[in-house]
Amino acid sequence: MSKTDNFGFVKSAALTVLVDNKADLIVESSDQVKYFTDKPLLAEHGLSVLIQLDESDQKILWDAGVSKIALIENMRRMKLDNKNIKKIALSHGHSDHFAAMTDVLIGLDLLPEEKEWKAGVKEKDIEEWLVDSQIPIIAHPAAFRERWWEKDDGTMIGPFLPPPLEQWQAAGAEIVLTDEPYQLAPGCWTTGYIPRKSFETSGRSVRARYRNGSEMLLDDLEDDQAVVINVKSKGLVVLSGCAHSGIVNTIEYARNISGVARVHAVIGGYHLALAEENEINQTIAYFKEIQPHLVVPSHCTGFKAISRFEQEMPDPFIEGVVGATYLL
Ligand SMILES: [Fe+2]
Ligand SMILES: [Fe+2]
Repeated sequence: MSKTDNFGFVKSAALTVLVDNKADLIVESSDQVKYFTDKPLLAEHGLSVLIQLDESDQKILWDAGVSKIALIENMRRMKLDNKNIKKIALSHGHSDHFAAMTDVLIGLDLLPEEKEWKAGVKEKDIEEWLVDSQIPIIAHPAAFRERWWEKDDGTMIGPFLPPPLEQWQAAGAEIVLTDEPYQLAPGCWTTGYIPRKSFETSGRSVRARYRNGSEMLLDDLEDDQAVVINVKSKGLVVLSGCAHSGIVNTIEYARNISGVARVHAVIGGYHLALAEENEINQTIAYFKEIQPHLVVPSHCTGFKAISRFEQEMPDPFIEGVVGATYLL
């Protein structure tokens, strides 16, 4: 079986942005992107995207944003169905992607209805129901680090607490930890650890630390991952979180694990907010080479890099806002 056969494909995908840094009501829908503009939506420094494959009822949630209000309220205003979110994937252990997760698990009421068991019910049936009634959260093990920051003078800022694993489990989540590519559905995978091979450096810092017992180690954000969808006859859709590994590394690894070279869309954070001019230049040069059909730098990409993408690649560029649904 070839790599691409193993990866699988979908005929179509729809990605709805539930949480992002920007909101805008004066936007025009097209064949490729439909905007919800009936009511204002809430924006915050965070990210969450609802993934629908092949017009299936069953949906996948990518990250949860920060506040207990934004995701839940935006879904309510957009009249999106809560019931069919069957899997959650976490991009990495930064709070702008996970802090709302407990409230989302509880508030969206994702778990199936309670069941009335009749006398004589078999233990096996109850066990099966218990397994089915959990919602998997797929994450890299390093997402659960207690993170710190070392200032120039050596003082430590922190702790930035890890995601509350036990709270999530108590709210019905089954935590699936892996650093490998993980199949969310045929043709739709999380990447796991993304090898860092390119020129990109701005997504990580030599000042970042995490605690391992009594030791403080360099935090290279190994947990950072993306979602990759192979859309038949179009190519890859790369959905990043923060792209701390580098957006070029992320795309290259997406091509590697799928065996698909063509890149249709790159949506999410590109993490270029603090990048040097040279890194932005090289990133744009790479994008010009691979020519994606849609370029949607949002969340942590930063105004400067976003405006450069808009100037240099006006045709594929779309400004990322909350309430956008990309039809892929
Ligand atoms: Fe982020
Ligand atoms: Fe981040």
